[in-house]
Amino acid sequence: MNKELRQAVIAGNWKMNKTRPEAKALIEELKPIAEKASCGVVICVPFTNLETAVELTKGTNIKVGAENVHFEKSGAFTGEISADMLTEIGVEYVIIGHSERRQYFGETDETVNKRTKAALAAGLKPIVCVGELLWERECNITEEVVARQIKLDLFDVSAEDVKKTIIAYEPVWAIGTGKVATAEQAEEVCKLIRDVLAKLYDKETADAVTIQYGGSMNPKNAAELLAQEDVDGGLIGGASLKAADFGVLLDEASK
Ligand code: 13P
Repeated sequence: MNKELRQAVIAGNWKMNKTRPEAKALIEELKPIAEKASCGVVICVPFTNLETAVELTKGTNIKVGAENVHFEKSGAFTGEISADMLTEIGVEYVIIGHSERRQYFGETDETVNKRTKAALAAGLKPIVCVGELLWERECNITEEVVARQIKLDLFDVSAEDVKKTIIAYEPVWAIGTGKVATAEQAEEVCKLIRDVLAKLYDKETADAVTIQYGGSMNPKNAAELLAQEDVDGGLIGGASLKAADFGVLLDEASK
């Protein structure tokens, strides 16, 4: 990461984990650990834990994010949550287009783009996820796949807004599998993303965007991944559910 140009951010993605009492316990454990971090600290939690998380993290350096957001302002969208509903309770970030949503819930680049624009319009900071399937990597089309996702997901997003957006490069084959991308592979694609951003916008804008790596990042492999020039932090699944492990990642990103 290059701290002169942009902020490193470690964001936890709790996915569908933690009841309210469990969430409270984890946040209380996390607070003293996160206190000394100089990187950005975000926890993205299930909708049912958002108010609890916002309440418990008031006055701390931990920011709260949701794991999805709908693109319409309100209306007949049973089961969905709008950006205004999130900002109104103090949520600051939102994960958009996670591969699990693309894979299991029919999320497309078009809906990712709509959600991203709706989130930005409401003042939320989106964490937009991109990444290739194992099959796509084996077919040598990782660059095309990721470049296409970036172009479609950020279509019509201004330079000013893209600077408020975090991009998370998450190779799908590395998520929850224990198969981490090598530091070289992570850097290669994060740099490619920055090059695509520089073409879409300009170099100064591209240099200002935080680009995270996600996929089996843990206390053992974090240092090497985070040492890469274009890897500006991580989006963390499993290791964000244990305060001690998350703490190691915060330490590494704060170096
Ligand atoms: P794991 O860290 O559990 O592989 O999950 C990564 C992820 O999907 C974060 O969004």
